[in-house]
Amino acid sequence: MSEHEHGPVTTHSADEWDARYRDTDRLWTAHVNPALPVEVSDLRPGRALEVGSGEGADARWLADAGWTVTAVDISQVAIDRAREIDGRPEISWTRADLTVDEVPGAPYDLITAHYFPIPTEHAAVARKLVDAVAPGGTLLVVAHAPEGVRAHGFDPDDYVQPTDFLGLLGDDWTVVTDETRDRGRPAGGGHHIEDVVVRVQRAG
Ligand SMILES: C[S@@+](CC[C@H](N)C(=O)[O-])C[C@H]1O[C@@H](n2cnc3c(N)ncnc32)[C@H](O)[C@@H]1O
Repeated sequence: MSEHEHGPVTTHSADEWDARYRDTDRLWTAHVNPALPVEVSDLRPGRALEVGSGEGADARWLADAGWTVTAVDISQVAIDRAREIDGRPEISWTRADLTVDEVPGAPYDLITAHYFPIPTEHAAVARKLVDAVAPGGTLLVVAHAPEGVRAHGFDPDDYVQPTDFLGLLGDDWTVVTDETRDRGRPAGGGHHIEDVVVRVQRAG
């Protein structure tokens, strides 16, 4: 999923994510995920939601770029760690489980989700995220390419993929990016070389 050296995650409860974070001082890289600056640098900063924010590298990059950020994660351990790393007021570190909770603070000018696992039985989460984008806003969904996911011990068919979001969009949306690209920095112990990147914009 991201740049950790640990084995695959097979379940996604808050307790299990908390245990994974407690297990190590640092689960993910402190670097921003490569697709974020590529896709977001041309947008005018406003209110952003960072979904599955983990230890917060992407939320910090967004705040550095001028966005006011709500960073959401199911794991209180991850939220506390991210807040300890960066407690600036422009980032609201928020514990929420998006399979059951509403999207906090919606709507947003930008919603970003990198390697955010949406098991197919919780496909309604994708609809929640689409609906939480404000008019004129952007949704960026990034996942590791299926080959790498399989090599890493997951079945990509068990998860909603970035391209699945395209089927949820009405006529008021434009597809800006829909591609698989070299990640630049391999992740997941070298399994994840390519990312699938979907960026869509809602009409203003
Ligand atoms: C693979 S990690 C990616 C973390 C970060 N985006 C990155 O790229 O380093 C997925 C994150 O999603 C969070 N997560 C999983 N299920 C969630 C849910 N239902 N609601 C909110 N966050 C969730 C996990 O706690 C974890 O931090």
